Amino acid sequence: MTLEDQINKSNLPRHLAIIMDGNGRWAKQKGLLRALGHESGTKAVRETVESCAKLGIQNLTLYAFSTENWNRPKLEVDTLMNLLIKSLKDELKTLQKNEIKLNSIGNLSLLPKSAQNELLEVINKTKENNRMTLTLALSYGSREELVSAIKVISDKVKNNIISSETIDETIINQHLYTHNLPDVDLLIRTSGEHRISNFLLWQIAYAELYFTDVLWPDFREENLYEAIISYQKRERRFGKTSEQIK
Ligand code: FPP
Repeated sequence: MTLEDQINKSNLPRHLAIIMDGNGRWAKQKGLLRALGHESGTKAVRETVESCAKLGIQNLTLYAFSTENWNRPKLEVDTLMNLLIKSLKDELKTLQKNEIKLNSIGNLSLLPKSAQNELLEVINKTKENNRMTLTLALSYGSREELVSAIKVISDKVKNNIISSETIDETIINQHLYTHNLPDVDLLIRTSGEHRISNFLLWQIAYAELYFTDVLWPDFREENLYEAIISYQKRERRFGKTSEQIK
């Protein structure tokens, strides 16, 4: 039986999120510039997006650039922004062919204008697609997301739009960048690091975590299948007992 055959298509994660890590180490191991690691990383992005759409995953969120990544050397930041613009231009056709809707989360106003424009154009052109939503986390940080949600909510309380007694998990959800997305079911991190790195802290409350030593540029369809098979073997109890689940 192939790995793909072992996947139960009726029990896929509704929302898969990936921390794509290890581009730099991949390049270093090969004696290449970090930029080439990121370029190879975009190939793994393309393959993963297509595999997820083919499998029937409804929501895929990729951590492409964190708020903390702005602190990298300017040359590397520029490389990542240029790769983003190039990928958006190159992949529009593939997104349309696979009926994938592009979405983004993060403080997009910090991105260069050219990247913002390209992003908004692809988001607009793919907005009617509904096979899968691909969300790119760009200039994203979970703490920043929560801080801005709290500011908006407290302004609404101050202006009597909502009362503080009505604040609950639903209201908080509605003020996050991810308000249109379900909670994360499965979070994958590549490259052997066991960290969350300020990614979707609220949304992963009950996510299953999957860590692999594979460096992101080497992440192939089979690695995705292995992660989903591992997810499907787990018992998700959401705080209940095993007996209550059965
Ligand atoms: C982590 O590797 C990866 C990133 C900071 C960026 C992810 C970007 C891509 C996969 C390419 C561009 C993506 C799109 C959507 C166009 P790292 O540099 O932290 O690796 P290291 O930990 O080995 O140094």
